[in-house]
Amino acid sequence: MNSFQFHNPTRIVFGEGETRRVAELTATYGRNVLLVYGGNSIKANGLYDQTIDLLKQADIEVHELAGIEPNPRLSTVQKGIDICRREGVDFILAVGGGSVIDAAKAIAAGVPYDGDVWDFFVGKARIQKALPLGTILTLAATGSEMNGNTVISHWDAKLKRGSGSPHIYPKFSILDPTVTYSVPRNHTVYGSIDIMSHVFEQYFSLTKNTPLQERLCESILQTVIENVEPALSNPNDSVARANLMWSGTMALNGGLISVGVHTDWATHGIEHEVSAIYDIPHGAGLAVLFPNWMKYVYKERIDRFVQYAQRVWGIQRDDRTDDELALAGIEATRAFFTRIGAESRLADFGIGADQLDRMAEEAVRYGEIGNFKRLGQQDVRNILEMSL
Ligand code: NZQ
Ligand code: ZN
Repeated sequence: MNSFQFHNPTRIVFGEGETRRVAELTATYGRNVLLVYGGNSIKANGLYDQTIDLLKQADIEVHELAGIEPNPRLSTVQKGIDICRREGVDFILAVGGGSVIDAAKAIAAGVPYDGDVWDFFVGKARIQKALPLGTILTLAATGSEMNGNTVISHWDAKLKRGSGSPHIYPKFSILDPTVTYSVPRNHTVYGSIDIMSHVFEQYFSLTKNTPLQERLCESILQTVIENVEPALSNPNDSVARANLMWSGTMALNGGLISVGVHTDWATHGIEHEVSAIYDIPHGAGLAVLFPNWMKYVYKERIDRFVQYAQRVWGIQRDDRTDDELALAGIEATRAFFTRIGAESRLADFGIGADQLDRMAEEAVRYGEIGNFKRLGQQDVRNILEMSL
């Protein structure tokens, strides 16, 4: 295990009905709020009306930025920055999934910054300060509700890039699993695969002697695997929705499950290049790519893939070799993704070979990616080609 520091400042307020605490939590930080949300989902499920009513009853002034896109765009972030500056906003409240929260974080960082907020996403500047923000999470997936990451798409340039800073951790996040009852089937699937993928990025590591971190990872994977199908067959299953929600937060909250571990993140880098161009849901891209990344790299440390097959999928050794066991675990992953309804090929989204070179080139723009196996441009291209 390597040396580490861990600090996570986000207050989690978890439970059915806790969305009613939004005004008291918000008032701790500001009285002139930008409410950031996506499409129609929070209007359809009543969360918008409830939130506006509660904020207004508490005499909190509310400005709105609606229409945050899935794969949120720089141009929308810039609109939010303009509103905050013009109206003297002192707190940002994001009500939505990862896209809405990421947009809110980028706005929060952009308001006090003199240059172009995109600078933070291309390594031209570091986030030094930000407006405070809070969230009501509506979709179990990214962990953005309890981490310092934001991922934004520059649609005109067809680039999707991440940035991170301790300054953009939400001050609080309200996690009410009943809010996720209305998440449609496909986004329940994609969100769950995103959660599993966050664990994969941290679990498939060359770092040794980390049994607690490994078991934390395995228990999140098992919890997601056990709860996805119940949530799909009964979207109002409170137990399944609660377990998925907390799994999502635990899987990517500043690295709690991977302290002292060298993490990978190559597959996320590759997926971002796919959604930058084709605008597909993040979890859908990961479902296609991750089993192929696994096949491409598993020989680097076969014992970790054997452990994965045995502990996560309960595959018995019988007379299998290590290689066969590792591959059986990878096949079990693909079979599970397919069973719950995820696509398995880029072609399922109409994606052909024409942009492979560009995606591979952009994925390694700042150098090789990944730690389990360092991947150069040709490796990335090979994985994309396996995924066509
Ligand atoms: O726009 P609305 O109407 O809200 O609809 C959304 C959207 O269409 C819908 N939805 C969300 N909550 C709902 C709901 N529909 C009904 N009922 C609800 N309760 O779901 C759709 C997808 O939402 P989105 O926020 O895009 O999904 P997700 O949470 O998966 O976020 C994806 C974005 O996060 C980035 C991804 O790259 C992508 O841009 N990521 C952010 C990370 C982070 N900040 O740490 C890490 C991740 O790896 C990821 O890269
Ligand atoms: Zn992800």
